[in-house]
Amino acid sequence: MVAETTLTTADLIWPVFVVEGHDVVQPVDSMPDVYRYSIDRLIPEVDAAIQLGIPAIALFPVVPSSRKSPSGDEAINPENLMCRALRALRSEFGDAIGLVADVALDPYTSHGHDGLLENDRVVNDATVEILCRQAVVQAEAGCTVIAPSDMMDGRIGRIRRSLDEAGYAECMIMAYAAKFASAFYGPFRDAVGSKQHLGTADKKTYQMDPANAREALHEVALDIAEGADLVMVKPGLPYLDIVYRIREAFGLPTAVYQVSGEYAMISAAAQNGWLDGPASMWESLLAMKRAGADVILTYAARAIARQLEVTDQ
Ligand code: PBG
Repeated sequence: MVAETTLTTADLIWPVFVVEGHDVVQPVDSMPDVYRYSIDRLIPEVDAAIQLGIPAIALFPVVPSSRKSPSGDEAINPENLMCRALRALRSEFGDAIGLVADVALDPYTSHGHDGLLENDRVVNDATVEILCRQAVVQAEAGCTVIAPSDMMDGRIGRIRRSLDEAGYAECMIMAYAAKFASAFYGPFRDAVGSKQHLGTADKKTYQMDPANAREALHEVALDIAEGADLVMVKPGLPYLDIVYRIREAFGLPTAVYQVSGEYAMISAAAQNGWLDGPASMWESLLAMKRAGADVILTYAARAIARQLEVTDQ
């Protein structure tokens, strides 16, 4: 009765990995209970998420190495894996679930960076051009939300204009506004296969310094001014002060991403019997709500939704 915060299934976005092929379900070693699904196998999994009341999924493609290139052109191919998955899900489920489409080049580049490289540096403006085209092909394929995770400057405004001009004024933008250059993304890079391509390189020239909070407010203000509908903080638990400050300062729908490394830590400890997995997961996500998050991306979305179904009865 006196609880100030509640966690509900309606708060959750489930990130999923899609892979080429037919009848493929591959476990991700560093993420217990997380799988890469081929499109045909993804459909029943998404159906189960809809039955649980999960309002949206965030799709990430596992692009075969043969389709990667320095310029990441596969990102703007309307027949790429991502676009085929979006079309299949939209035609199967209509508006029953929101489809969040990632905008960034890292699944498609042979060097694993989110943008185009010149002299080993990611170049901002040329990257923004291709991101705009990526956003439009994904909107054409049926996504509900474009989620740029690349961290280039000025891309929200440019993507907004490109979507509007192409007739997708209703397509929302969830900006990865305060995305930190974090060590907690390791298992994700395993899952999408970008780790071996990135090698020892890092993303510190475009993702944020974990030392900075004021800069996060600045990044968010820019993305809001450029037309973001939701803003995101990523990772989650180590950055709850950022979530709190952003939600207080702007009041816009604020999302937080419980990233792969956070998920892996809890899952690994639970597998060892060192933590109560479901209880620790629930507590972490509730803490994100308490800090001000309106929306939480979590690989545990379905497990938590099942847990909530039981406890709500
Ligand atoms: C890249 C991207 C990353 C994640 C989502 N999109 C990783 C990165 O920046 O290298 C991480 C998600 C996670 O760790 O769960 N555009």
